[in-house]
Amino acid sequence: MTVIEVDGLHKRYGNVLAVDDVSFRVEAGEIFGILGPNGAGKTTTVECLQGLRRPDAGRLRVLRLDPTTHQHEVRRRIGSQLQDSALPDRLKVWEALDLFSSISRRGPAWRDLLATWDLDGVADRSFASLSGGQRQRLFVALALVNDPEVVFLDELTQGLDPGARRMAWDLIREIRDRGVTVVLVTHYMDEVEALCDRVAVIDHGRVRALGTPRQLVESAHSEVTVTFTCHEDVAWLASTRFVDTVHQTDGTVVVIGPGPVVPLVAAALVERGIVPEDMAVRRASLEDVYLDLIDRPAYSPEDR
Ligand SMILES: Nc1ncnc2c1ncn2[C@@H]1O[C@H](COP(=O)(O)OP(=O)(O)O)[C@@H](O)[C@H]1O
Ligand SMILES: [Mg+2]
Repeated sequence: MTVIEVDGLHKRYGNVLAVDDVSFRVEAGEIFGILGPNGAGKTTTVECLQGLRRPDAGRLRVLRLDPTTHQHEVRRRIGSQLQDSALPDRLKVWEALDLFSSISRRGPAWRDLLATWDLDGVADRSFASLSGGQRQRLFVALALVNDPEVVFLDELTQGLDPGARRMAWDLIREIRDRGVTVVLVTHYMDEVEALCDRVAVIDHGRVRALGTPRQLVESAHSEVTVTFTCHEDVAWLASTRFVDTVHQTDGTVVVIGPGPVVPLVAAALVERGIVPEDMAVRRASLEDVYLDLIDRPAYSPEDR
């Protein structure tokens, strides 16, 4: 079942074109990533989907409803953790959950959420006194308070230390394992690789690529780099099938070519009695692909 449909979304703030023709679909049960640099239009896109902003053009459906005209129905069935969400400093954890539960008419009792998200021990603490990881757990619990079918998480792991980030990743998987579809907005590639079933890469308000993380890597870069140590001259490798280039310096050999180059180079070497035990193969990572897709600012030497 398709849970979210976005077709030709446009949104402008004055003369800033924040979203410039974005289209994608999210299927039930997915963790769908929206990846892009700051200012790409990610938050605007998910805010339009949550009925928080009115699009200038485009067709949106969330759970088959138009969030622009059926904002209340949509909001009852989704959960959201908004970017930079903050609560009043003195509000206690249990009070926040009680308040949010009272607004939604369905969903688990907030006491259950305290236990599920390991907030029992801090129920009486004020928001201001929580650690970054505890705040994220509270935001996740609040996003789930109405037992939503879809959850929007916008930069959930922003500013967390590595341990807390890993815990947040586990929380995200747990949400999905409960049958909730997750839309994960992020600018971290490792997060997308670790968590997302599919991802839309957005830059300057446009979708630059869409697919599974693996598809993106495979479609963008087919070249691999093979490295090994060898002290005899292997320039002859250049005539092996699929080899594009061979570099050899101080006993380190670097061979570049498309995928099949790996077994062919290995076989050619072994045939000549060379067994490169330290042979390492590097394929393009999602990070390489991502950096190729987005327009990076050009640095001049003075900036360094
Ligand atoms: N309320 C607003 N008023 C004016 N410009 C905005 C507003 N919100 C966002 N923008 C601009 O729209 C663009 C996209 O912003 P945003 O959707 O927040 O991107 P992202 O979440 O990818 O960082 C940016 O250039 C941002 O400065
Ligand atoms: Mg944002």
